[in-house]
Amino acid sequence: MKLVIGSDHAGVRLKNLLKGAIQNAEFIDVGTYNEESCDYPDYISLVAKAVMSGEADAGIALCGTGIGASITANKFDGIRAALCTNCFMAEMSKRHNNANVLVLGARVVGDDLAVRIVQSWLDAPYEGGRHQRRLDKISAIEKNG
Ligand code: RB5
Repeated sequence: MKLVIGSDHAGVRLKNLLKGAIQNAEFIDVGTYNEESCDYPDYISLVAKAVMSGEADAGIALCGTGIGASITANKFDGIRAALCTNCFMAEMSKRHNNANVLVLGARVVGDDLAVRIVQSWLDAPYEGGRHQRRLDKISAIEKNG
């Protein structure tokens, strides 16, 4: 599985840690690459665009709280970005919401928990069925308001 991963300065350390810890994925790292202050929309939009174009199968977006990253990613058509602070949320974000971008707050979750959250999201299947009807309604809102 090919994952795009991006963060601002607040998430860059956790981004690097995740790239080393998650073995069953190939990463496209769109930055940022150092802890110099930067603007999260610049990097999270690259994550969203790589998922939208199919360059990546899914994405991981990080900032300090995860809030700015999730607001940004969810502005893009077809992106279902889920800010998760525990493994249950991560699993359900795939099972019910088919989240194609996982968002983490690097100042909110610890390193070990972050790795487990990512693995829970990667391992969970999308259940489809009644959930697809709901996702279709979200797509219609994206198109028609
Ligand atoms: C950067 O200081 C911080 O505002 C950013 O990482 C994020 O938490 C925004 O939502």
